Amino acid sequence: MNAFRALFLFACALISHSSTQKASSSPPLAVVPLQTDENSADIETSSTAPFLPITLLPFTQLAHGLRSGPITIIDPRTFFIQDLHYDGKGPDAHFWVGKGTWPSGDGILVRNENQSSLPLPAYTGQNVTITLPGSLTYNKIDYLAMWCITFKHNFGHTFIRRRPSTEYGVQLAPFTRLAHGLRSGPIVAVDKKTFFVSNLHYDGKGPDAHFWAGKGPEPSTDGVLVPDENGSSKSLSEYTGQNVYVTLPGELTTDSIDYFGLWCIQFKQNFGHTTIPKNVTIPEPNGNPLYTHDNRRIIRVQKCCALNQVLLEGGCGSSEERFNPPMNVHEHNSSHIDDEPIAAESIEFVPFVQAITCSHQKYPLDPEEESFPLMKNGSLMVLNTQNILSMDNYCIETVNLGDEAGSRWVTTAILCFSSGNVPLSSTFFVIYAVGMCLRHRIGGGLAA
Ligand SMILES: *[C@@H]1O[C@H](CO)[C@@H](O)[C@H](O)[C@H]1NC(C)=O
Ligand SMILES: *[C@@H]1O[C@H](CO)[C@@H](O)[C@H](O)[C@H]1NC(C)=O
Ligand SMILES: *[C@@H]1O[C@H](CO)[C@@H](O)[C@H](O)[C@H]1NC(C)=O
Ligand SMILES: *[C@@H]1O[C@H](CO)[C@@H](O)[C@H](O)[C@H]1NC(C)=O
Ligand SMILES: *[C@@H]1O[C@H](CO)[C@@H](O)[C@H](O)[C@H]1NC(C)=O
Ligand SMILES: *[C@@H]1O[C@H](CO)[C@@H](O)[C@H](O)[C@H]1NC(C)=O
Repeated sequence: MNAFRALFLFACALISHSSTQKASSSPPLAVVPLQTDENSADIETSSTAPFLPITLLPFTQLAHGLRSGPITIIDPRTFFIQDLHYDGKGPDAHFWVGKGTWPSGDGILVRNENQSSLPLPAYTGQNVTITLPGSLTYNKIDYLAMWCITFKHNFGHTFIRRRPSTEYGVQLAPFTRLAHGLRSGPIVAVDKKTFFVSNLHYDGKGPDAHFWAGKGPEPSTDGVLVPDENGSSKSLSEYTGQNVYVTLPGELTTDSIDYFGLWCIQFKQNFGHTTIPKNVTIPEPNGNPLYTHDNRRIIRVQKCCALNQVLLEGGCGSSEERFNPPMNVHEHNSSHIDDEPIAAESIEFVPFVQAITCSHQKYPLDPEEESFPLMKNGSLMVLNTQNILSMDNYCIETVNLGDEAGSRWVTTAILCFSSGNVPLSSTFFVIYAVGMCLRHRIGGGLAA
């Protein structure tokens, strides 16, 4: 608890520091037009702006045991491939980059980590750093692959940029809750190869549990193992509310499966699954699902009401008001929260719909009075109360915080508290409860 609090205070200090700094500085980013690609509108590469590392999904697992952990672009010419595995049996395999919606012979060889262009040997979990040839930079290519030149065979790849598209995927039902505390928020079929699983919980106690996909009305031994979010096939351990992206292996796509779930291979037990509807159009897998076509990081946020609705005093209802989250998003790890938020220009909030269920009422925060940065893992920090809220305890929605004098529509965090004791120091709250509207003045100093 103390460490938690310390981390929090640290973050508070940093964040208030950065907001005072911000007021005096000019916009840090310049838009630099690219010479070669009319689809590119990258925000970055002014020589003074630091390069923000770009996260790519692990290699897809197509052949020769190729797999990896997440891949990171650490500067415009350098790729860091974590935990690379490959059986070494391809006769003429190379790292390979190119343009297009799928790897092809029309690419360029990238030398291995020792600057050699000999065929790649076996890898058994090494971290490998490779550099693009000549003056080539990541924003001129669409994929990084391991490619056999002689047989024009793709062993696996990862996409760098998302092709122009307004499609952010199709929302599916959460996992059914059959065993081992498995539950989740909605699952998004981001494209035909990729699922986004929100707010995943699992107790980690199944002896041989794996993501699993296949045909038929429910999971069975006929299914196929789906590697975890780090590209590994080892038994899954505990999840405590993470958001993860997982990729279907080999030839599998959402067209060739009926379900996706968690399955214990040893005991042939279904822990829970979701069904892929057949009457929806899931986008083709033609780009990095983590970024928009203009390389803004996609932050998927939990929206309380349907896409065309807002939260009214009696519940969700139709409105013309726009969904426009005001929050800063911060990079972090277990011991550190970045003081500078990720530049707002380099983020795109993409909603999925999930109402939180509260045993008490829902309270909107007022962005004029509260600061509530979003962590990149989906948790919400409420600075006044030193709380880090999981996705079970908040959702984001547009509400009217106005009063008799006029309306004031804002998109903000709606919090859920389990008791009537509202641990917030701000002044006005509209309490949203079914069928009634109360206006409360809540005294200061209630923060726990
Ligand atoms: C690169 O060099 C290191 C150290 O000599 C060696 O262990 C590794 O296998 C080499 N990698 C390749 C792809 O040849
Ligand atoms: C690879 O890099 C990761 C992240 O930097 C690190 O945790 C891991 O220990 C490294 N593995 C090896 C084999 O060096
Ligand atoms: C994936 O990697 C992250 C970061 O190293 C780690 O926290 C997480 O537990 C890993 N997931 C699995 C399923 O091993
Ligand atoms: C997200 O990160 C914060 C800060 O590191 C941590 O306190 C919180 O538990 C994390 N949330 C999840 C769901 O892992
Ligand atoms: C697809 O079918 C399901 C079940 O029949 C139905 O509930 C849903 O509304 C349909 N969706 C679309 C987009 O037609
Ligand atoms: C967390 O990030 C900070 C700053 O980037 C870094 O110094 C630290 O080593 C990281 N800690 C872990 C556990 O990864």
